[in-house]
Amino acid sequence: MSKDVILTGLRANNELHIGNYLGALLPIVDMARTKSSEYQINLFIPDLHSFTTPIDHSKLQEQIMQNLRVFAAAGLPLDNDNVYLYRQSYIPAHSELTIILNSFTGFGEMSRMTQFKVKGSKVVALPVDELKKILNKPRFEASVGLFDYPVLMAADILLYKAKYVPVGDDQSQHLEFTRDIAGRMNNKFGDLFTVPKSVKEQHAFFGKDQGLRIKDLQDPSKKMSKSNDSDKGIIFMTDSPEEAKKKIMSAETDSLAKVTFDPENQPGISNLLQIHALLSNQAVEESTKQFTGQTKYGEFKAEVAEVVAKFLGEFQDSLSKVDDNTLQSKLESSEKSMNEVAQNTLAKVQKAVGLR
Ligand code: ADP
Ligand code: TRP
Repeated sequence: MSKDVILTGLRANNELHIGNYLGALLPIVDMARTKSSEYQINLFIPDLHSFTTPIDHSKLQEQIMQNLRVFAAAGLPLDNDNVYLYRQSYIPAHSELTIILNSFTGFGEMSRMTQFKVKGSKVVALPVDELKKILNKPRFEASVGLFDYPVLMAADILLYKAKYVPVGDDQSQHLEFTRDIAGRMNNKFGDLFTVPKSVKEQHAFFGKDQGLRIKDLQDPSKKMSKSNDSDKGIIFMTDSPEEAKKKIMSAETDSLAKVTFDPENQPGISNLLQIHALLSNQAVEESTKQFTGQTKYGEFKAEVAEVVAKFLGEFQDSLSKVDDNTLQSKLESSEKSMNEVAQNTLAKVQKAVGLR
């Protein structure tokens, strides 16, 4: 019996921040370290997804390599044969399956996708000067690539028969679409695809980490995100420990003068407690207990800043030791094996739809 597959992709549009690290990377790296005897782990860079909204293409290669190094520095075991690390565009079956699935996907269905509505309108709504800067062109429209994003994502998942796909809430709709299109194709053509578990089942499987949302330090009502306007509320994995400390020290808090974990009434303080707990490898209750009675936010922040700085220092030390040759050979061996698996699934689909 082959192992159940746990699969996820992290885009390489920008530097990764501690929200990506704690919410997405660490859970899958932990799985890879502790569960690889039971599951196959696929971690990949959806590089074709990275320019569904405009980017600086001259930086993409380096950003991909940098993010791969971050995966390794986060502890992804590169020497484990049950762990596969690859780039989407190196496996042509992703693109080919997308083209086929496109013809079984409704226009209306894609138009309803929240991400398309949000990111599409954001791009269109940019001031003309901004657009010119990004594109060096006077006009820009939301791309067909952005519209088709979920179909490519479905292909990413279905090619490898993945059952478990850890993603953030914002991607749940795409996962549900993957289940829909898989079911639809199976009804029409027989058992072609493994349908991934429902979002609810995924949450049960991955436990608490799934709902994690680290907040922007400057505006704790928003999640920490690469897309936020200012970098001041974001701690990037490559920020120097000193820079990170400053960001923590100037984090938005409140005037209640007490340290409690109460995301609703004390979102800024709760966010800092959450970060403190995760980086200290302890439950948030423990961190909260540690600071109970503290009335001076400056002192509390300084302790959080210390934990963050220590973590970043150690992380960046590991990052500087990542050997690109080891990474490169892991990519090559994974891409070779995954090309075979993906090609196999694609061949079944091509046969089913009458292309072979
Ligand atoms: P961003 O919003 O920074 O562009 P992405 O949408 O590319 O991040 O998300 C990449 C992964 O990181 C997703 O699985 C997402 O759920 C996770 N993630 C992003 N931001 C956070 C956050 N603030 N807290 C926890 N997890 C996050
Ligand atoms: N859309 C995901 C994100 O923005 C990235 C992604 C692309 C992905 N293909 C995937 C995640 C397949 C899981 C499975 O975070």
